[in-house]
Amino acid sequence: MTDAAQSPSSATLPATDADLARAVALLKAGELVAFPTETVYGLGADAANAAAVAKIFAAKGRPADHPVIVHLPCSQAMENWAQDIPALAWELAEYFWPGPLTLILKRQSWVPDAVTGGQDTVGLRVPGHPLALALLRAFAAAGGSGGVAGPSANRFGRISPTAACHVQEELGDRVAMILDGGECPVGIESTIVDLSSGQPRLLRPGHIRPDQLEAVMGVPLALPEHLRNADVPRVSGALAAHYAPRTRLTLVASAALQAEVLRAGGQPMAVYAWSCTAPVGLPEGVAWVSAPATPDAYAHDLYAALRRLDGLGVAQLLIETPPPGSAWSAIHDRLGRAACGAGADKDET
Ligand code: TXA
Ligand code: MG
Repeated sequence: MTDAAQSPSSATLPATDADLARAVALLKAGELVAFPTETVYGLGADAANAAAVAKIFAAKGRPADHPVIVHLPCSQAMENWAQDIPALAWELAEYFWPGPLTLILKRQSWVPDAVTGGQDTVGLRVPGHPLALALLRAFAAAGGSGGVAGPSANRFGRISPTAACHVQEELGDRVAMILDGGECPVGIESTIVDLSSGQPRLLRPGHIRPDQLEAVMGVPLALPEHLRNADVPRVSGALAAHYAPRTRLTLVASAALQAEVLRAGGQPMAVYAWSCTAPVGLPEGVAWVSAPATPDAYAHDLYAALRRLDGLGVAQLLIETPPPGSAWSAIHDRLGRAACGAGADKDET
């Protein structure tokens, strides 16, 4: 844990029992507590307290009609927040929770509009990180609602945080406390499945793949248009800007990468490449950074790498397009959005 007022270097101290107790007290008092999950850090507030949830939107600069995920200590708690829960939800929860899966279900009528964005559904997940689970269990045991609303702990439209120091950079003193659980092992946000209508639908790809979900559900999952064929690159105009660095970001096919770098003739740039090393004669001013070549390691590093590359002060980032295939589809999704939103002034969004 770190107090927001402390220096970023102290953000690396691991949380203690006393930190956990303080985090629970702050949540109960309607304050914001950032916490680690296995995917990315969340910006937590008591999900039953509309005024506390409103603080999340103010801290992030996020539009009020965007719903937030509610984190729960166990699957049984689903019933407090959702109704008409289909058998598929229990099956997925049994198999994948605690873990990086969010289920969209019909909400209980008492759930604050601030959480659901005024929709008749609510997003629920039991996270797999031990510190997140400890926090959620302690919060429920202390007589809390048992639900912690938690979007990713970044400013709206920006890169999600995968370490406590990233939360400190993003939100600083806008958050009462940051619980430090080290680096997030997965590194990209949860897979989101909508079970609120007859047909299960994938809303956001993540670490858990469609084929894994279908194997458990025994029925097909409807995929968003851009994911039907994971090998087809996304049209950037169709993407909402998100997960974006400030520096202009371009995705470049492996075969074109080296030529593209040499063609730019020494313009200050950074390259993030998974398949090849720097070409002979790399112009001065070009930073060549190697990316992992397996999807899990790539996802783990992705946001921290984007943050680091963004901090180099170069004119543009060239990212080598990752390999095709469903194991990479969540990474394609995030990079496509990052490319779409990069270079724009996110302070307005
Ligand atoms: O891995 C994650 O899911 C992380 C960690 C902190 O749990 N959280 C996260 O939250 O990524 P956020 O708010 O950054 O993204 C959640 C997404 C948003 O796009 C939101 O619109 C969608 O989930 N969402 C939440 N509730 C929803 C609902 N009721 N219906 C449709 N979409 C919903
Ligand atoms: Mg987010």
